[in-house]
Amino acid sequence: MTIAGTGSYVPERVLTNADLEKLVDTTDDWIFSRTGIRERRIAAPEEATSHLATHAARRAMENAGVTAEQLDLIIVATISPDTFFPSTACHVQRNLGALNAVAFDISAACAGFLYALQIARHFINSGNRKTVLIIGADKLSGITNWQDRNTCVLFGDGAGAAILQARDPTDPTPRGVLSTVMASDGRLTDILSVPGGGSAMPITPENADQRLNTIHMMGREVFKAAVKHTCEACETAIARAGLKPEDISLMIPHQANVRIVDAICERLKLPPEKAFLNLHKYGNTSGAAIAIALDEAARSGRMKKGDNILLVAFGAGFAWAASIIRW
Ligand code: UT7
Repeated sequence: MTIAGTGSYVPERVLTNADLEKLVDTTDDWIFSRTGIRERRIAAPEEATSHLATHAARRAMENAGVTAEQLDLIIVATISPDTFFPSTACHVQRNLGALNAVAFDISAACAGFLYALQIARHFINSGNRKTVLIIGADKLSGITNWQDRNTCVLFGDGAGAAILQARDPTDPTPRGVLSTVMASDGRLTDILSVPGGGSAMPITPENADQRLNTIHMMGREVFKAAVKHTCEACETAIARAGLKPEDISLMIPHQANVRIVDAICERLKLPPEKAFLNLHKYGNTSGAAIAIALDEAARSGRMKKGDNILLVAFGAGFAWAASIIRW
């Protein structure tokens, strides 16, 4: 299975750390030194997750030279769907006119794009599907408590997409996914969640007043779990691919906190310049983060044919994943 094309989209509106200083008791210095984030993009009120996803998808299709009719599977990884149902993937399918595709969403928070990559890989490798569109898209601004400085400084909106196809058997270099690790630990559901709005706590005026329909996070617990699990997942993914850390040309990590990325680099003894970062521009865009970074790394020439790329993500669930792809 190979990645035939990538695309991404972020909304126009920029929200800087200086803008946030006017909303909550925070400073640019605190946000940048603790996270590495300078600004993030915020979608317009009428711009739903499917709009972001559709823009990214069109760019990926153009990049891969693929038409809407060729798509036979669309997977959208999101935790901020347009509606509980139908799926955001069905909205994207309609927008693209991709009527030969089966379309569905998956929920794995920030690990969603890597989960989608793995699901798509199985569909393609089994011969079941030929041309798959995977998208990571989130509009977290809609589920952010803009009065909570612990969380509102971290997140942003965006979407990234990739077109996946079967590997050309005549290509002498084995390209595509070399190895994958996927894992979850449901004992940690409480450290990062939106508690209200679902069947466990249908939204009422009272719990909406308490902002229970927005992101709640125990930041330090998430930080510790992220470092532990992502480091282990990277080591396993590298070993399963038959590689050593020094064989990795570029790491594309989840864009949540530069200190988490530094910890992974230190553990793997990867020079920090091998980590692709764009969180200073976009913050944490959840399911979109790795997908946007992959597209930017591809378009800026950071990946050359044959390079071993390490992708790693973690998030609510707790859910995490790592993959080695040969570009
Ligand atoms: O995709 C997965 C999503 N989440 C993550 O990856 C988040 C993982 N966690 C983190 O990145 C970090 O834990 C944070 C960036 C969220 C927080 O950094 P920290 O170094 O763990 O800070 P802290 O939560 O321990 O807070 C330290 C202090 C506290 O004040 P006191 O109790 O020491 O007086 C907070 O109240 O910083 C305070 N604080 C802030 N100050 C200014 C918390 N948020 C802010 C803020 N501005 N925005």
